Amino acid sequence: MPNLSILILAAGKGVRMKSALPKVLHPIGGVPMVERVCRTVDGLKPSHVCVIVGHGGERVAEAVKARWPKAKFFTQKVLNGSGGAVKQALSWLKSQKGDVVVTCGDAPLLQTQSLANLRKLHHKEGNAATVLSADVEKPFGYGRIVREEDGSLEKIVEELDATQAERQIHEINTGTYCFNVAALVRALPRITSKNAKNEFYLTDVIEILKGDGARVGAVVCDDPNEALGINNRFDLARAEAALKARTLASLMAAGVTIIDPASTYVSEMAHVGTDTVLWPQTYLLGNTRIGSNCQIGPWAHITDCVIENNVTFKASFAESSVIRREAKVGPYSRVRPKSDVGPRVHLGNFSEVKATVLGEGSKVNHLSYLGDAKVGKNVNIGAGTITCNYDGIQKFPTIIQDHAFIGSNVNLIAPVQLGAHSVIGAGSSISQDVPAWALAVERTGVVVKKEWAKKKFKNKK
Ligand code: UD1
Ligand code: CA
Repeated sequence: MPNLSILILAAGKGVRMKSALPKVLHPIGGVPMVERVCRTVDGLKPSHVCVIVGHGGERVAEAVKARWPKAKFFTQKVLNGSGGAVKQALSWLKSQKGDVVVTCGDAPLLQTQSLANLRKLHHKEGNAATVLSADVEKPFGYGRIVREEDGSLEKIVEELDATQAERQIHEINTGTYCFNVAALVRALPRITSKNAKNEFYLTDVIEILKGDGARVGAVVCDDPNEALGINNRFDLARAEAALKARTLASLMAAGVTIIDPASTYVSEMAHVGTDTVLWPQTYLLGNTRIGSNCQIGPWAHITDCVIENNVTFKASFAESSVIRREAKVGPYSRVRPKSDVGPRVHLGNFSEVKATVLGEGSKVNHLSYLGDAKVGKNVNIGAGTITCNYDGIQKFPTIIQDHAFIGSNVNLIAPVQLGAHSVIGAGSSISQDVPAWALAVERTGVVVKKEWAKKKFKNKK
């Protein structure tokens, strides 16, 4: 394959988004659109990248530079059409050789494979220009692909300029093309703005090159959703739904059970092992990795976590933590960042952990808060046990060694260390270290005053 350069058009204002944020920075699947496009295009290993920016150009450029620090930028001051946008890069195009793939910053569902197919056909047919097209149910608003009787590409006509008959065509222009750079450079100055919008249409290049006797072609992409161009918040929601459907389909194909796809959201970066069941209202966000044979949900919200095999996770939140094999989390637990929930741990009803390690087989079953704690193996944390890890200025650690037994409603005033097999009496506030095998109990005697209540309420009927 010859050298490849990429040109991304992203100057459009996106007025219909009604947003202070530039259109191409709106996220889909948690990733700004233009970043998604960059990622897709990167799969082709281009040698040079150029982006046309306009509205909010600096912020868009910043997002692009994160991937390609050497990308070239041109600002289009007058938004006079896609052809006008490409013309901004004429000097850059003249310095390129081989192929240039032109695509849009607002086409977030495009896939690398389609671009690879586009280039393959481009070279197989020996084209000067090849369009990536799509067969869609609702072609309205898109440019239509007009073919000759023999099926070869004739031209692209925009909706506003199309005849009644042309509007019936369901094959549309996705806005992505592969050009021979030299051919594009030759055709660009000959585009005019004689059309319904008085704009310079990049799509006119097809007719111009064809008129010169060059070969042009169109290749249909596999998934019509790839054509989705985002113009408003409705499109944004459509793209989000299509991306989600794509992700869930690939998980189900790989052996994951999804009870209710409509209420399940999985980030495309997430991995889920075979025979894991995702129950309704499950959200797997970011870079989450889940093992095999897990039961996740209902009502699970998991962000950037590693979850090992055979874990049960119900009605709980977890973030940036590890949950190890056979652990049971929830219902109503919160695992905050930097926690490590050990194998076979039970973390249950209304319990919260933060930056806390729970050793194998330990139990935190009811109403606890453990922050900055290091808990050993087979420790029992009684209901309502709290680490007092913060004095208003600084955070302090709590260390609880293997087999310790903490009674209910204990305050552990950090820094504090409880030895192995130690026992803490219910209701104690522990502010000093407890050695192994010791009992620590902090409790004032109970005062019992007989008949006291009778006197107090003697006047009450
Ligand atoms: C364009 C295509 C249409 C195709 C559709 C796919 C043309 C003439 N038409 O139409 O055939 O079906 O995309 O989504 O190209 N842009 C600039 N500067 C401008 C105008 C546009 O950079 O002055 C950029 C936009 O940011 C966008 C892309 O070019 O990324 C397409 O522009 P848009 O206005 O969305 O074109 P459509 O009317 O959707
Ligand atoms: Ca568009």
